[in-house]
Amino acid sequence: MPENSYEKMTIQWFPGHMTKAQRMIEENLKLVDAVCEILDARIPRSSRNPDIDRLAGAKPRLVVLNRCDLADPAVTQRWRRAFESQGLAILETDAKSGKGVKEFASAVRRLLADRLRELEAKGQTGRALRVMILGIPNVGKSTFINKVAGRRAAIAGDKPGVTRGKQWIRIDAGLELLDTPGILWPRFDSQEVGEHLAITNAIKAEVLDRETLAANFMLRLRALYPDALRERYKIEPNAEQNGFELLEQAAKKRGFLVSRGEYDIERMANTLLSEYHEGKLGRLSLETPDD
Ligand code: G4P
Repeated sequence: MPENSYEKMTIQWFPGHMTKAQRMIEENLKLVDAVCEILDARIPRSSRNPDIDRLAGAKPRLVVLNRCDLADPAVTQRWRRAFESQGLAILETDAKSGKGVKEFASAVRRLLADRLRELEAKGQTGRALRVMILGIPNVGKSTFINKVAGRRAAIAGDKPGVTRGKQWIRIDAGLELLDTPGILWPRFDSQEVGEHLAITNAIKAEVLDRETLAANFMLRLRALYPDALRERYKIEPNAEQNGFELLEQAAKKRGFLVSRGEYDIERMANTLLSEYHEGKLGRLSLETPDD
């Protein structure tokens, strides 16, 4: 399987890029039976494209809650129920290790049971179901595609009269994926969303000042998972302290000294963000369906 052709980088979204992405999705939507939208299980709201309902139109949809290994399992279950109540099919995955990924084919078949019956009635029993993968940058689209395809990956090639130049990855005899995922723009509608995207590496943290980002993140952790701060950084998250003071407390415990009595807040900010990214603080979700 060829590497997916887009670069793994943070895209600055301008109206022109959005129009192009939208056009690509519209064009490819005609070729697929279902749309599979990948979200970060820790921030399903912020990692969801704000226009997805309109973009996906009437296509049956599967939502993949990826990075489940880093998300709070109880919160992920609440998201599952919330999405299911909207009529969306759900799959929980850790695309990095491959956990949950093998359920993909059966989840798609369940979602498309009516479509399969329809194809059968028309005598098109040999026709594979086709799925397009969509998601914001860095959410795990290519990791997911690679894991779903595994060693069985085979380029099914052009379909005469249907697609020219489009390549399909055959998952099994009855299921194919479009080989390039659709990259969607994230939300841009609030500071909190921006922070969640930066904390989870969906956008570059440099967009925001890293120390401020980490200080605000400390406040979120104090509210949501104070025990994670106690256990990882051996600090007592005091309700009176601001985020910078919490960072300083943690820097002190870590021995991040710059000069006598002065601690390296910047180093602590980077440590906090990278340790969260690596899952060292535990499985912590930043959004719930009722926020
Ligand atoms: P994209 O195509 O949507 O842009 O994302 P991609 O697959 O390149 O994945 C981005 C990063 O996220 C990769 O790490 C990948 O290994 C990681 N990743 C994907 N799915 C999961 C998951 O379910 N759990 C965890 N823990 N990680 C996942 P990378 O390239 O090493 O970068 P990074 O880990 O430093 O972000």
